[in-house]
Amino acid sequence: VTVHLVGAGPGDPGLITARGLDLVRACDVLVYDVLVSPELVAEAPADALLISRAPLRQAEIDGLLVEYGRAGLDVVRLKGGDPFVFGRGGEEALALAAAGIPFTVTPGVSSIAAVPSAAMIPVTHRGVSDRVTIANGHGVPDDPEALTTALARGGGTIVLFMGLERLGELVSGLVAAGLDPSTPAAVVANGTLPRQEIVSGAVDELAELASALPTPALVVIGDVVDVGRRLRAAAERHHAVVA
Ligand SMILES: C[S@@+](CC[C@H](N)C(=O)[O-])C[C@H]1O[C@@H](n2cnc3c(N)ncnc32)[C@H](O)[C@@H]1O
Repeated sequence: VTVHLVGAGPGDPGLITARGLDLVRACDVLVYDVLVSPELVAEAPADALLISRAPLRQAEIDGLLVEYGRAGLDVVRLKGGDPFVFGRGGEEALALAAAGIPFTVTPGVSSIAAVPSAAMIPVTHRGVSDRVTIANGHGVPDDPEALTTALARGGGTIVLFMGLERLGELVSGLVAAGLDPSTPAAVVANGTLPRQEIVSGAVDELAELASALPTPALVVIGDVVDVGRRLRAAAERHHAVVA
């Protein structure tokens, strides 16, 4: 009789945690994100109430979680990736706490870890990058330069969530703030899924290379992208030999 905030993983339904799947299979109500795999939604009990988050505003979701939690039902709020990485899970947990409803948090495999990894990009490859900065590509609306200036100065690998829409602007900002325009960069769309697509090249050509890519997409900038390119080439050669 609790509301469970559960991470569904990055897309591939095999990447939910064992605990997360147990909770989905035992719930009375499942409130799920747009990016959650339909195969995971299908794991809910046949008589569970299924609610897509798609048409709802955040306040309505918070209200539903409180309402069903208060009614004594087992509610699973299934969220893409990890609930607390750019997922508004913190806001939902605060709404539940304010209403006195018990809740738990089950971590998920975030796309910060899974998407570069599925594209064979080792974001902290030893000797190449000793840090990763992750940021929301939407940036700070009233100060667009603040994000790119901080990222360009930070060094190491840069990973941008929700960055595809504004990619051209973000890259110009990074280069204007001192990032070498020849820095290797990649965009990974639909990471971990069979329809995964990767484009890579110098950061100053990235917006053009990625212009036809679908969302969801993650942007990775830094020398580790070249390590990824070598690893994918090696894996493909191996695959060709085995096949
Ligand atoms: C609202 S955020 C949610 C992130 C999620 N909580 C997590 O931990 O991965 C959505 C953004 O995550 C990234 N993303 C999520 N799943 C992805 C995937 N399978 N491939 C590429 N990017 C993904 C994209 O940048 C997308 O715009």
